[in-house]
Amino acid sequence: MHFDIFSLFPSMFRGPLEESILKRAQERGYVSIAVHNIRDYATDKHHITDDAPYGGGGGMVMKPEPIFAAVETVLAGETGVPIILLTPQGRLFTQAVARELAGYRRIALICGHYEGVDERVGQYLATDEISIGDYVLTGGELAAMVIVDAVTRLLPGVLGDPGAVLEDSHADGLLEGPHYTRPAVFRGWAVPEILLSGNHAAIARWRREQALLRTLQRRPDLLAKANLTPQDRQFLAKFEPS
Ligand code: ADE
Repeated sequence: MHFDIFSLFPSMFRGPLEESILKRAQERGYVSIAVHNIRDYATDKHHITDDAPYGGGGGMVMKPEPIFAAVETVLAGETGVPIILLTPQGRLFTQAVARELAGYRRIALICGHYEGVDERVGQYLATDEISIGDYVLTGGELAAMVIVDAVTRLLPGVLGDPGAVLEDSHADGLLEGPHYTRPAVFRGWAVPEILLSGNHAAIARWRREQALLRTLQRRPDLLAKANLTPQDRQFLAKFEPS
């Protein structure tokens, strides 16, 4: 997978993409990330990338020309590459969207900043607009990093354990249950007995039930869309208010 990120602040990407799993994924060739400075594609003497909004009002708006020039130069000759504008007005980023994006060979991410981006970028250059949540960030950079992270860890080979992504929270529409490691008793708080039992079938059932219970308690909205077996429904029925 190759990511092309278009930003006015490329140095923001230095830290987060150079640690841990993302670092290893790049070293091992599963993913490559190029950060392109939109300012480099402004052709005027002062490399201006923003301007006052037509019609007045506060804040500045990112100009369309440098963004179009940057994306069209970098993606010249390419077809079928999603060009995603990060904006709080986009469709909501979820694990399902991460899985969808993980199917592409190359993805372009445009980071907006200031009051916004000239509407023509969204209309005539971007093929998709994504928001990472219902809140407003100072720019699309952090949102782009979230997408790179969530998509990269889904690529085959990136995580040591290939089954790990199947058990993630949200992988099957449920939150994950609790995890424990040594010591078995910490400050008097014991790990649930069943996890020490060695009974793998019972442990798997317990984990499923914990996932169901946690989802019911914390995100009941997710249960409506989750893939539940008759056994799951029977378990949940015990917690329904009578
Ligand atoms: N830019 C500003 N806020 C954002 C958000 N919530 N998601 C994506 N891009 C953004």
